[in-house]
Amino acid sequence: MKAVGKFGEVMVAEKGKVSYDELGVRLDKIIHSGSQLKPILDFVCRELRRIPHYSWVGIYMVDESDLVLRSWSGPSATRHTRIPIGQGICGAAIEARETILVPDVDRDPRYLQCFLNTKSEIVVPIMKAGAAIGELDIDSDRVDAFSATDREFLESVAGELATLF
Ligand code: SME
Repeated sequence: MKAVGKFGEVMVAEKGKVSYDELGVRLDKIIHSGSQLKPILDFVCRELRRIPHYSWVGIYMVDESDLVLRSWSGPSATRHTRIPIGQGICGAAIEARETILVPDVDRDPRYLQCFLNTKSEIVVPIMKAGAAIGELDIDSDRVDAFSATDREFLESVAGELATLF
């Protein structure tokens, strides 16, 4: 991962400390491990959720005109397992082919509600040859939870994930 070694932020999590850099190294290893796709995606979601303000983490992939939930980690399942590309923040990020950061979901009319406690959301497309083929979707139960560091970190994770497809 290009970004490894440049984030330098350490957060206090439930089970010890978590840093973007260490997490990036672990994610890189598993993504390039040659394991099967589904266990890799599950690992990535689980590991990303170690970041304290990441309440729910999902990976959606494009399937014709829909986004299909391929993996997730969080306290509960979402009913949005298939989202038409024209809908939600998720659909908007695919259409825009760029990251969408919503600091306050209550103020964004595009937002499709999954969880009552979600306050902010970031959706980062997985790009392959100029096309958005999927995305990382992260919800937080804090308003304005995601920083420029989160965005840069997640864009670099999405770049690594793209190599799997
Ligand atoms: N909130 C998303 C829908 C997916 S859930 O957050 C898991 C959206 O607005 O597209």
